Amino acid sequence: MAEILGLGLSHFGGFMFSDEEMSSRIKARLVDGSLPPSLDHPSKWPGPMRDEWGNDEGASFAHRHREEYFGGLDRVRKALDEFRPDAVFIFGDDQYECFREDLVPPYCVFVGDEFESKPYLRARGLGGDTPNIWNDPFDTVIRTPGAADVARYVLNALLAQDFEPAYSYRLPHQDYLGHAFTNTLMFLDHRRTGWRYPIVPFAINAYGSSLIRARGGIVEKGGNNGTARLPDPPAPSPRRCFEIGRALARIVRDSPWRVAFIATASFSHAFLTEKNFFFYPDMESDRRRHAELAAGEYLKWRALTVPILEDAGQHELVNWCPMVGAMEELGQKPAYCELMESYLMNSNKCVAIIPPA
Ligand SMILES: [Fe+2]
Repeated sequence: MAEILGLGLSHFGGFMFSDEEMSSRIKARLVDGSLPPSLDHPSKWPGPMRDEWGNDEGASFAHRHREEYFGGLDRVRKALDEFRPDAVFIFGDDQYECFREDLVPPYCVFVGDEFESKPYLRARGLGGDTPNIWNDPFDTVIRTPGAADVARYVLNALLAQDFEPAYSYRLPHQDYLGHAFTNTLMFLDHRRTGWRYPIVPFAINAYGSSLIRARGGIVEKGGNNGTARLPDPPAPSPRRCFEIGRALARIVRDSPWRVAFIATASFSHAFLTEKNFFFYPDMESDRRRHAELAAGEYLKWRALTVPILEDAGQHELVNWCPMVGAMEELGQKPAYCELMESYLMNSNKCVAIIPPA
């Protein structure tokens, strides 16, 4: 019987590397002169951030943060295994990976029978060629089956409902999945029991106005990385992503398949939160978003706008909106929804399980 399981998690790449490596961004900021005087020494930081730093530059906290996060992932994986999906949709951002100067869709469904991931290539800045927690070789390639039949069916049905997603039969610019999809697959199989579910990668242009000019990163004041000088066109709105999720729920509900919808993104990202000097995330806003989600008040997410998300460094929350919209359409409420906060580790991570009613 067709059913939909809603799941949410983070694809923070730091979890793949050592406890010491996880706070490397903070250590670099302390010495590169980019912090304002009000934050240029740990003694000046918010209390919880000082606590995370502790007496070992955040290494102990990093360990606890990963344990907490992987504990949440174990619950997600158990729910997924018990659900036995025929296909798994993964809604994730494309961070200047397949979406580049030559073509930037608001979102794109990748259609294939198999996808490759190269989990340690992009992460060089986070220590990609240093040992990862699995001790995998740096050039490891992971192969994951694709649900091409489900993807084609859904594309046809979306167009019949007047939604016009882009699609692609190959991954442009790189022959492997982007970080959001790769890290999600790595983390959901962090115990290495194997992954057998066919996927449909649904990529979203979450970085919008800074996708090209900052190559998916941040736009430093006055800097543009030598590319476009003006902001790029924005990300698709949370409302539109939410409505696509509602349409997807209707389509899958009337299909022969059992499908999991995985939203993958941390909430506020420190490196996107200008009001906190790109140093730590917007904690207050994340707590609000988490409370809304946990209470099943999904329509509050539909009312969000791109400027609201960008102000909070929550650009990637549009990745969550299709899954949240689908849950609104189906009337499904969270059985599990936890926010794992961190000042040091770039972002707050939310893990959620929203089972069929
Ligand atoms: Fe991302």
